[in-house]
Amino acid sequence: MCRPRNTSLIHTSVLFLALVAMVGMTPPPPRPLPPPPPNSTLLFDSALHGNSLRNCSCASEIQDCSDTLANLLCSCRTVPRSSLPPAGLRMQGGLTVWVHDGWLLRELLNGSTVQDLRLSACGRAALSPPFPPRYLALFGLRSLRVFSSAPGAAHPEQALTISPGPTWDVSGAQVGMPPAPFHVSFLDVSVLNGRSSLKAYSVNSSSAANLTQHFPHLPLPHAPPQHGHPQQACLLTFIY
Ligand SMILES: *[C@@H]1O[C@H](CO)[C@@H](O)[C@H](O)[C@H]1NC(C)=O
Ligand SMILES: *[C@@H]1O[C@H](CO)[C@@H](O)[C@H](O)[C@H]1NC(C)=O
Ligand SMILES: *[C@@H]1O[C@H](CO)[C@@H](O)[C@H](O)[C@H]1NC(C)=O
Ligand SMILES: *[C@@H]1O[C@H](CO)[C@@H](O)[C@H](O)[C@H]1NC(C)=O
Ligand SMILES: *[C@@H]1O[C@H](CO)[C@@H](O)[C@H](O)[C@H]1NC(C)=O
Repeated sequence: MCRPRNTSLIHTSVLFLALVAMVGMTPPPPRPLPPPPPNSTLLFDSALHGNSLRNCSCASEIQDCSDTLANLLCSCRTVPRSSLPPAGLRMQGGLTVWVHDGWLLRELLNGSTVQDLRLSACGRAALSPPFPPRYLALFGLRSLRVFSSAPGAAHPEQALTISPGPTWDVSGAQVGMPPAPFHVSFLDVSVLNGRSSLKAYSVNSSSAANLTQHFPHLPLPHAPPQHGHPQQACLLTFIY
């Protein structure tokens, strides 16, 4: 007869203790939201905007070559073609370039410094033969993604990582550190037609002077000012 009463007393105490524990518990402080990833830069040539450059800052990834979507979803400005400095890009981190017409490659991208590049060939004009000259020189390239909208492209989307090594320091070498190797990539623009798989090889040398001896006809573009010292280590990458 006593048993049930004892049991219920225990139950009540347990319940009471649990309640005390719950009241005493403070809710965890709200965790601060992680900062949103930074916007990415998207550049494309636009015939709609007087054949000038559209320079967009996008919070999300936009489907390749979708100019209308980019104009709608990103924050874009028009930059007149005449005001673009040749080889004027210095991009630490990612950059997306959509090419409708080859001038953007020749007049802005060639000879620029870009670490992580996504290059998209939009429509036929970007590839219309003849496409002289065939090579694009890029400084400090670490990764490349190529998209081709060309009909019949067997490899519409391809990617390549060149070197997982130390990051290229656009602002110049740090005090006391050996300067980053002088790194030039030569990109065969025909990879933009997506017909063959992307391939690359690199040549490494302890000095730029030696390398130019071995490649006397290399069309070396003007190097960014702080690079190109003859005693600087040098890495050449050919992408084709
Ligand atoms: C694009 O816009 C950004 C931000 O305004 C600017 O820093 C950059 O220089 C522009 N690039 C070109 C090629 O106009
Ligand atoms: C980031 O992109 C969004 C649109 O995608 C735009 O509204 C915003 O102004 C951009 N932020 C910066 C700092 O450019
Ligand atoms: C890029 O620049 C190099 C060196 O100035 C030049 O030989 C090459 O033809 C240029 N390529 C393009 C696509 O303009
Ligand atoms: C290139 O050569 C330098 C020395 O000449 C060496 O320190 C470096 O590790 C080499 N880099 C690669 C990617 O082989
Ligand atoms: C680089 O060139 C110098 C002078 O031309 C030579 O003495 C040296 O052996 C060369 N180094 C290599 C690795 O070829």
